[in-house]
Amino acid sequence: MSPRLLLCAALLRLLLARPPPTGELENDFGPESGSESGEVRSEAIRRLLEVFGMEDPPLARGRKQPPPQYMLDLYHTVADVDGVTRDPHLLEGNTVRSFFDKLHSEQVEFVFNLSMVAQNEKVLTAELHIFRLRPQASVSFSRHHFCQVSVYQLLDASKVNASQGRKLLSSRLIPIHSSGWEVFTITQAVRSWMFDEGSNLGLMVTVKTLSGGQMDRKAVRFASGRHHHYSKQPMLVLFTDDGRRAAPLESSPVPPNGGDKPAAPSLPMLPMPGAGRRSARSADYDEDGERMPCQRQPLYVDFEEIGWSGWIVSPRGYNAYHCKGSCPFPLGQNMRPTNHATVQSIINALKLTKGIEMPCCVPDKLFSINLLYFDDDENVVLKQYDDMVAGSCGCH
Ligand SMILES: *[C@@H]1O[C@H](CO)[C@@H](O)[C@H](O)[C@H]1NC(C)=O
Ligand SMILES: *[C@@H]1O[C@H](CO)[C@@H](O)[C@H](O)[C@H]1NC(C)=O
Repeated sequence: MSPRLLLCAALLRLLLARPPPTGELENDFGPESGSESGEVRSEAIRRLLEVFGMEDPPLARGRKQPPPQYMLDLYHTVADVDGVTRDPHLLEGNTVRSFFDKLHSEQVEFVFNLSMVAQNEKVLTAELHIFRLRPQASVSFSRHHFCQVSVYQLLDASKVNASQGRKLLSSRLIPIHSSGWEVFTITQAVRSWMFDEGSNLGLMVTVKTLSGGQMDRKAVRFASGRHHHYSKQPMLVLFTDDGRRAAPLESSPVPPNGGDKPAAPSLPMLPMPGAGRRSARSADYDEDGERMPCQRQPLYVDFEEIGWSGWIVSPRGYNAYHCKGSCPFPLGQNMRPTNHATVQSIINALKLTKGIEMPCCVPDKLFSINLLYFDDDENVVLKQYDDMVAGSCGCH
């Protein structure tokens, strides 16, 4: 069982329990004052942010622009309407970031500020996306059919036109009369910028005729952040992995010291609604007092309720599900018991050994979810989080 999901489910129960005006919270938290339960709430929010790999929620400053269409399309490709990953193999890493050009130069030069990328993120691929505008009518009878578009990394700002001042990253022939997005791979440059932030002098794009001559500048134009609609802004798209992949449930090796993954935050035992005075067993009965077999039940996590709708673009919330019910003897195959659970339920039923509980009803398959959000620098980020949704429940 993933410690991260356990933690998450516990926190969510805590967060989603809206403080009711009656004494219900007090019952759950014991004789605590209101401010103490407020502390618990803020501690819970902090822990939930840790699950999402953040220290603080991004500042939800008034967003200047909607997210780039490319990022929205990518999100809808990898995630279903609830944010659950459609196919874990679609993305190589677990993070995709988009950056807008900060230079807004008259030349076809761009600078992207990558300071929001954490040092431990492994750069998989980086792409420059630039929007090719339609050629102006006056040059539509050009004698050229193709032009050579090259992307350079700037190494020395004083000699950008000399070969020692720049490094060729990518080059391609483009039909003169085309328009739309052109994508160039610039991974090498981003790796070097990640290594030495000060070396990031930006990128330059040149357009030449096939014979290497100057091209009429009106014939081949790219949209700039300064003069054109935001939806056509030059953009850097960065695919990275932050290494926070969870081990698969079945094969997770259990070290002798208890099996907690090093990345998982350690959680002090918070008082939880439902824990404590009420016996744990009472949760196993439905409204009619019938003993409910172990099963998956909905648990909707509403980002608006948590106060995160300002920076999360999608989804608005997701169904994490939770596992509820009892695992009594005899455990049928529909309870998806482990052999261990089967033996434990037998020992429990026969009362062979004192103090052996019934097996627990827990998630035995977990899915990842995707978040599309604005970071502190108003870059749009798509991030995948493992083990966030209970796919099925079983007796363990
Ligand atoms: C990049 O952005 C960060 C955070 O917004 C800022 O502190 C830093 O000065 C920026 N760097 C450059 C070179 O503009
Ligand atoms: C580089 O060449 C372009 C086009 O010929 C020119 O506009 C630009 O000013 C030159 N830059 C430098 C730094 O010499």
